[in-house]
Amino acid sequence: MPITLHVRPGLLVRPLTAADAGPLYEVVEANRAYLRQWLTWLDDTHGPDDVRNFIEHGTSQWSRDDGYQGGIILDGTPVGTIGMHYVNRRNRSTEVGYWLAETHGRQGIMTDVARVFVDDAFQRWDLNRVEIRTAAGNLRSQAVALRLGFKLEGVLREIFNHYGTLLDMHVYGMLRREWDALKL
Ligand SMILES: CC(C)(COP(=O)(O)OP(=O)(O)OC[C@H]1O[C@@H](n2cnc3c(N)ncnc32)[C@H](O)[C@@H]1OP(=O)(O)O)[C@@H](O)C(=O)NCCC(=O)NCCS
Repeated sequence: MPITLHVRPGLLVRPLTAADAGPLYEVVEANRAYLRQWLTWLDDTHGPDDVRNFIEHGTSQWSRDDGYQGGIILDGTPVGTIGMHYVNRRNRSTEVGYWLAETHGRQGIMTDVARVFVDDAFQRWDLNRVEIRTAAGNLRSQAVALRLGFKLEGVLREIFNHYGTLLDMHVYGMLRREWDALKL
């Protein structure tokens, strides 16, 4: 079911495949310290096989109607990922997670990618609620959610184990009717 989402000329999101493991690992390696500031899987990612496992997890999610993991592809090369942590069909909800290579940051790429991905979650996946959770100190990720019109719904205290330190998380939410109203 996942299809290619066109974001800007030369910029798209498509489901990751096994062939992406090597190139994506190179991006992870080049951005290890940058990503480690807010993501927890860096110390468990030692080579392309670990990325392949993540990609297989995304493929298996899709086969269970539980979301998918998309590659952010700029001019044919992966520069990050965006995906659904899960799809809850009963509640018609999902949580979206993302990262982008530092060299491609601060150009609005992630905001535009997330806008198209969230729109697809509402339209094609027919969900009613999309959540973005960020560490309380992750101001750049919060700015992505806020630029898209997500509402800060609450703070989950000391819920996020970040390499041994328990951090607070912000929960941002968007409902389909709010999204549709924003697009009017
Ligand atoms: C979270 C993350 C993807 C945000 O990246 P980002 O570069 O800040 O976000 P964007 O690509 O949307 O770029 C926004 C910047 O581009 C600028 N910009 C330029 N053109 C823009 C446009 N058309 N639309 C929106 N912003 C634009 C914005 O002003 C903003 O600049 P600023 O940071 O100087 O204020 C990135 O910081 C990251 O990968 N961090 C590590 C992993 C992580 O934290 N993931 C999220 C876990 S919850």
